[in-house]
Amino acid sequence: MTNRTFTMIKPDGVENGHIGAILEKITASGFRIVAMKLTQMTKADAETFYAVHNERPFFGELVEFMTRGPIVAAVLEKENAVADFRTLIGATNPADAAEGTIRALYATSMGENAVHGSDSDENAAIESAFHFAGREMF
Ligand code: PPS
Repeated sequence: MTNRTFTMIKPDGVENGHIGAILEKITASGFRIVAMKLTQMTKADAETFYAVHNERPFFGELVEFMTRGPIVAAVLEKENAVADFRTLIGATNPADAAEGTIRALYATSMGENAVHGSDSDENAAIESAFHFAGREMF
């Protein structure tokens, strides 16, 4: 178990004006921001980032969605960061997300679900390095 995870506020969260509220919820839940930027992924970026899902039927839709506008990418630090952050964001499908979770509050559908959170320590490190150089993490 490491103490860092990687997150993105997805294009829907940015478009719908939820950056501030989502960051407030993250920091109020005890996560420290280690790195953060507003950026937009290219198609090649999204295809690489989500390569593990490239056989899934929604892959094209996922790439299209994740590249349609800016995202907020961030690295977060807290004890048990990966698991605690997955709890904070709630289930992938907002209809199944527990009350008070970020997806219950701000996601609109299975695809447009406001935030990403790494699913393992290994992926947290890979995803953080995809978006940030070592000197950008504090
Ligand atoms: S997870 O978190 O990996 O267990 O979730 P999973 O259900 O496997 O989904 C992986 C990512 O694909 C997105 N997703 C979808 N996008 C578009 N349409 C549909 N139907 C769909 N289903 C799942 C989901 O939001 C996950 O994205 P990330 O960025 O990992 O949260």
